[in-house]
Amino acid sequence: MRDRANTTTFPEALRLMAAALALLIMLLAIPASAHKEHRQNKTQDEMTVEQPAPIHGNSPALHSESDSLDQEGFDIADFLGRLHPAAVHFPIALLIVAALAELALMVRPTLGLDRTVGLLLWAGALTGAGAVLLGWFAGGFRLTDRSDVLFWHRWNGTAIVVVALVAALAHSRKWNSAFVRLLVFSVAIALIIQGYLGGELAFGPDHLNLIPKGGF
Ligand code: HEM
Repeated sequence: MRDRANTTTFPEALRLMAAALALLIMLLAIPASAHKEHRQNKTQDEMTVEQPAPIHGNSPALHSESDSLDQEGFDIADFLGRLHPAAVHFPIALLIVAALAELALMVRPTLGLDRTVGLLLWAGALTGAGAVLLGWFAGGFRLTDRSDVLFWHRWNGTAIVVVALVAALAHSRKWNSAFVRLLVFSVAIALIIQGYLGGELAFGPDHLNLIPKGGF
């Protein structure tokens, strides 16, 4: 017989789910102003001036235009855009591991990683398509941007997914393996650039502190 003391009742389960959802919404609400400024087609300079400390995000300068937008109530497009940073980890990891597995296969063909590469490519390309869609919600639906960083991030990201889908298809259909490799390695390199550009958008210019402040 099942021990009823250890089972969760339906209302308890509902309460737990509601609490988890509330926590998720609170976490996603933290960088609110950053998201809205990307959608407002601002240049990187305008965002930097109005948002001097994007990581900590509590500067009084942030609580102007963005707050008035927050008072409009729940915005589904804004919510979907806020899921983009969480979604990008899947294609980044899956497609870079696909490239590493392909590299291992080139060095040791006997490793038997061919089906693994196929699975990683499909999983990376499909989760990437989801991340790109959410990215368009984060950055706004337009073809050009006043911010160069957002422009290159938008189109590099969109191209990555198109090329990753072609690579997955080419791998499944057993097209020329040199062609598949070219696509897989190009996607991995483009993803590293993409991650850097994403960091520039989320955390501000030179977020990795690579440029010496006193000049080279
Ligand atoms: C494979 C495709 C993509 C990848 C791997 C990617 C990756 C990233 C990463 C790593 C970040 C920083 C997230 C953080 O730590 O907060 C980011 C932010 C961002 N991405 Fe993407 N991205 C992709 C596609 C796109 C596309 C197509 C757009 C469309 C415009 C876009 C718009 C944005 C915006 C607006 C932000 C800033 C979000 C914020 O301020 O919190 N991304 N992206």
